[in-house]
Amino acid sequence: MAEEAGLKLEQIRAAESRLLLQTYERNPVLFVSGQGVHLVDENGTKYLDLLSGIGVNALGYGHPAIEAAIAKQSRALIHTSNLFYHEGQAELALLLTERTGLDRVFFANTGTEAWEGALKLARAHAGLLRSEGKDIGTKFLALEHSFHGRTFGSVATTHKAKYREPFAPVMPGVEFVRFNDVADLRAKFSNEVCAILVESIQGEGGIRPLSQEFFGEARALASSTGALLIVDEIQAGMGRTGKWFGYQHYGLLPDVTTVAKPLAGGIPLGAFVCTEEAARAIHAGMHGTTFGGGPLACAVAIAVIDTIEKEGLLAHATEVGGYFQDRLRELAARHEAIVDIRGKGLMVAAELDSAELGKLVVAEMLKRRIVINCTSDTVLRFLPPYIVKREHIDTAIRALDEILTEHAAMPQAAAAQTHTAGGPIRG
Ligand SMILES: Cc1ncc(COP(=O)(O)O)c(C=O)c1O
Repeated sequence: MAEEAGLKLEQIRAAESRLLLQTYERNPVLFVSGQGVHLVDENGTKYLDLLSGIGVNALGYGHPAIEAAIAKQSRALIHTSNLFYHEGQAELALLLTERTGLDRVFFANTGTEAWEGALKLARAHAGLLRSEGKDIGTKFLALEHSFHGRTFGSVATTHKAKYREPFAPVMPGVEFVRFNDVADLRAKFSNEVCAILVESIQGEGGIRPLSQEFFGEARALASSTGALLIVDEIQAGMGRTGKWFGYQHYGLLPDVTTVAKPLAGGIPLGAFVCTEEAARAIHAGMHGTTFGGGPLACAVAIAVIDTIEKEGLLAHATEVGGYFQDRLRELAARHEAIVDIRGKGLMVAAELDSAELGKLVVAEMLKRRIVINCTSDTVLRFLPPYIVKREHIDTAIRALDEILTEHAAMPQAAAAQTHTAGGPIRG
């Protein structure tokens, strides 16, 4: 079908509309390559990517460390299955246990699969505790606005009804707690609960950080009965927030955490990492995967972690992320349509006052060759590669300023103001 350099955008759109399950509303762009923080379309036009494939391409595009790891490992060994040893899993598991503060790793392929494994671990752990005489049930407490993936357990613990209801009945035994509502958490927690499920900073739900009080209470309640505190770090983890994991901003340790997205820099790889206590519940044959933790993905993940460290990208994410939020606050002081700025490191959101404006801003940014997205209807979400620089942030801010000036009403008093970094947010 493809001729010469390949099908062009319009041909591909027509072919996909006949041949693919119609699950995605794609933007009308055909990307063919990338370099650094830029993607390149079929016509050679460069786009500034502030979304990094939804939080995946932490080192951007064409990073020599990733290219070298892929080249070397693909020549040596791509797949073995988990029936045999290879060199990568133990080395990567050591890097993950050292950075999470937890003890043991299970490798999967994707975020949802890592999360499914964590849910199964919680049920198995509660079963083990019951066999030891403890009174503990099988229920999960998840949070409103949560997102944990699309497979049956993950979707059951994902709050948005439109993701769950077409597939009902999903996994039973899940109750949703109001976000950051400590009283609701206390009211719904009991010894029926086998695990409390949170994202340290909700991603798809709109870049919403847990409050210190709520997170602390979740930790204390889980510890009081032997239930597990499971923290989904699939979007916030692996350095995006300026620390390896979002929960490290709160000074507490979960029993289980899940990682995926940027773990292997664009090669699919997920994992859950857990305490020795939780790991007691799993023995040979209870859980597994054909592809998870394969030699290629592990080699690349080791290179990604090594590069984040060598290039000082945690500190860089904190610094550039702080600059990004400051610049967005300046904009918010001038544009009433921006009602909140939040986030940590390079996980940043600007909440707008309408869903229509959200859609329009994303489309207008794309016209200006800048990739972002809008989540939770009204929240502009920025998940740039960790290598993004201040000058790229400046480019995005200028474009946002133009778009908001053109398309959103600007109050006269605000327009006349002088604007300072870190200024007040209007809402
Ligand atoms: C917090 C969180 N958990 C889980 C997932 C699911 O990951 P995947 O799409 O790799 O299955 C996502 C994906 O966006 C996520 O953001």
